[in-house]
Amino acid sequence: MTTAASEFDVIYDRSAYGSAKWANRWDEYAPAVEGEGILSLWTADMDFRAPQPVIDRLVDAAQHGVYGYTLRDPAHFEIVRAWFSERHGWTPEVETLLPGPGVMPCVAAILRTFTQPGDGVIVQTPVYSPYFEVISGNGRRLLINQLRLEGGRYHLDLENFEALARSGAKAFILCNPHNPSGHAWTFDELTALNAVCERYGLIVISDEIHCDIRLSAAPHVVFASIGESARQRSFICLAPTKTFNLAGLQCAVVSAANPAWRARLFDTLRFSFMTNPNYFSRLGLEVAYREGGPWLDALTDYLRGNLDLVTRFAGASLPGLHPMRPDASFLVWIDARPVDDRVGDVKAFFLEQAKVNLYSGRVYGPGGEGFIRLNIGCPRPLLRDALNRMAEALGKA
Ligand SMILES: Cc1ncc(COP(=O)(O)O)c(C=O)c1O
Repeated sequence: MTTAASEFDVIYDRSAYGSAKWANRWDEYAPAVEGEGILSLWTADMDFRAPQPVIDRLVDAAQHGVYGYTLRDPAHFEIVRAWFSERHGWTPEVETLLPGPGVMPCVAAILRTFTQPGDGVIVQTPVYSPYFEVISGNGRRLLINQLRLEGGRYHLDLENFEALARSGAKAFILCNPHNPSGHAWTFDELTALNAVCERYGLIVISDEIHCDIRLSAAPHVVFASIGESARQRSFICLAPTKTFNLAGLQCAVVSAANPAWRARLFDTLRFSFMTNPNYFSRLGLEVAYREGGPWLDALTDYLRGNLDLVTRFAGASLPGLHPMRPDASFLVWIDARPVDDRVGDVKAFFLEQAKVNLYSGRVYGPGGEGFIRLNIGCPRPLLRDALNRMAEALGKA
């Protein structure tokens, strides 16, 4: 089944379906969003319908009407394995795969199982902010290794990473590819990080939820694929939810190659009663990975078009905004420091003056100040509307 580009142009009203992005008149972080007509380009889901085979299967399952308990059998994990093998050249053994209700619940379960209250956990900022909450909220110590921004892309600060590892850190949460910048960490970068983790005995939680949407030619390197040491010391967190816009279904998979660690994590998951999948999410994952490839390819082309639009438009009409080119994901990280300096708070400025709601870079921790994150996983007419509003607001500032 093919998906025409024009299908991605359709704007759906999501406000009646409890959408975090569109149903609320507030946003998670201050300031409160008030009033009608605000374009929501913040939280990381897309405004597109899922692949048609997924919709058909879920409608069929809804019509069936018997919503009893479900299992994930080996065939379920075979489908996950086949997807990663075909798309990313990584073929995890089926027995390494564990079920979870979402990537973040799995990250929390791993931290609780393998670290103690007070243990240090490293993250590299700016980064997806729930990492801060999962560390601090579970009583672990947040250790920040700030990425270095040079030549318009992020680089590792390996020296500081090693100093933090040496200071007694127990775990490292890697965002691979990186949210918010969309940077695809290379084999060499991952190998360098792993060498430090190996030297100091850190476990690695590699969150690879954004791996499937490839906007540049850079490949996705699964952390566990770089070598046996990385495979044995890591947990790879995966999900179809960003890829196929299924976040509301909630499902994830963790690959744990180390048998002893896998057994411990499985105990945490099952004694938290987190392993029985939701009736719809189980089906959604299976159909998406089995039949969603052509849709994903069409989506990727469309998102490249959206990215080109943002890049060209910013160059011509958004002075002081410098978008980075993501290798992966549907998120564009924009260096807006010149505007932020001028207007005070660039996120609040666009919300109030343009009625465009973006994520504030400050949410992403040290290094995010003066940046904004724009979600381009939306119909192009809507994106164009948002960019025009932003240009108009900037023109008046
Ligand atoms: C890097 C990253 N990890 C995890 C999540 C959330 O995953 P889940 O909904 O499966 O907990 C997000 C959502 O935006 C994300 O960007």
